[in-house]
Amino acid sequence: MAKLKMTARVLSQAQLGADIFDMRIQAPEIAAQAVPGQFVSLYSRDGAKLLPRPISLCGIDREKGELRLVYRIAGEGTKEFSGLAAGDSIDVLGPLGNGFPVEKGKKAFLIGGGIGIPPMLELAKALSRENAGQDGADGLVQAVLGYRDSFLFLKDEFAAYGSVYAATEDGSAGTKGNVLDAIRENGLDAQVIYACGPTPMLRALKAYAAEKGIPCWLSLEERMACGVGACLACVCQSKEVDSHSQVHNKRICKDGPVFAAEEIEL
Ligand SMILES: Cc1cc2nc3c(=O)[nH]c(=O)nc-3n(C[C@H](O)[C@H](O)[C@H](O)COP(=O)(O)OP(=O)(O)OC[C@H]3O[C@@H](n4cnc5c(N)ncnc54)[C@H](O)[C@@H]3O)c2cc1C
Ligand code: FES
Repeated sequence: MAKLKMTARVLSQAQLGADIFDMRIQAPEIAAQAVPGQFVSLYSRDGAKLLPRPISLCGIDREKGELRLVYRIAGEGTKEFSGLAAGDSIDVLGPLGNGFPVEKGKKAFLIGGGIGIPPMLELAKALSRENAGQDGADGLVQAVLGYRDSFLFLKDEFAAYGSVYAATEDGSAGTKGNVLDAIRENGLDAQVIYACGPTPMLRALKAYAAEKGIPCWLSLEERMACGVGACLACVCQSKEVDSHSQVHNKRICKDGPVFAAEEIEL
């Protein structure tokens, strides 16, 4: 799959909450190839910030050639992107990374924690499309979303693809606690797990999947630099020796960001 650098047109920018934004861009060449779990690198207009910022694909519309990016303001780069409006342009490189394997016909947990929620939405869409027409297809996609508080961004959109459960740290909505608390409280089970979110959540899910003996795919959103596998700024510890660096490392940007849980140390 070829990655492309292009200048994309901003189609819309909406503020979903205090620091969360929802931007759609016209990038047909990237949308044509992209799969759920992949990301793009967005370039700043400020020459001093040479490193592009990785953002996951929350939506891919191949027909319209559009990508949807939902992001939280973390620093200068994301703040700059939040100031873009319809008609502006932005340089973008993608699609990057490997994406989630779409395991058809399996009862799945799609687990997102905080700003790890956006990529799970496109995966929910893809899984429900793949499962359509199968026996019991309606029950196969189960989104379990972890939030800080009652600002439940994107939650309602998951309902179009399956069942949705929320956990909040402060107990203001859904289950009080984390995503595993929500799974237990609702008596849920699954045959495969897909997840993206903070490392402690991923670590807990890795242990849960091992205990249950089910496959688990984790997307790691660590800090990155080049985004294309050249600088080794984004390595995580792996069980196997990496063919590129010959050490127990994997490059999140190129070998990931999605890994089988047993492949990586968290
Ligand atoms: C594969 C991948 C996919 C991502 N997808 C999304 C997404 O869909 N939505 C979204 O909001 N963010 C996502 N991120 C995180 C996003 O890339 C960073 O928040 C962004 O690069 C910060 O840039 P900045 O210039 O705004 O902040 P900076 O000035 O670079 O950093 C501000 C602060 O954020 C911290 N920080 C920077 N990058 C990260 C990171 N990756 N993880 C944790 N802390 C970080 C820094 O240490 C610093 O404290 C993703 C990251 C990766 C690697
Ligand atoms: S960011 Fe450079 S190798 Fe991953």
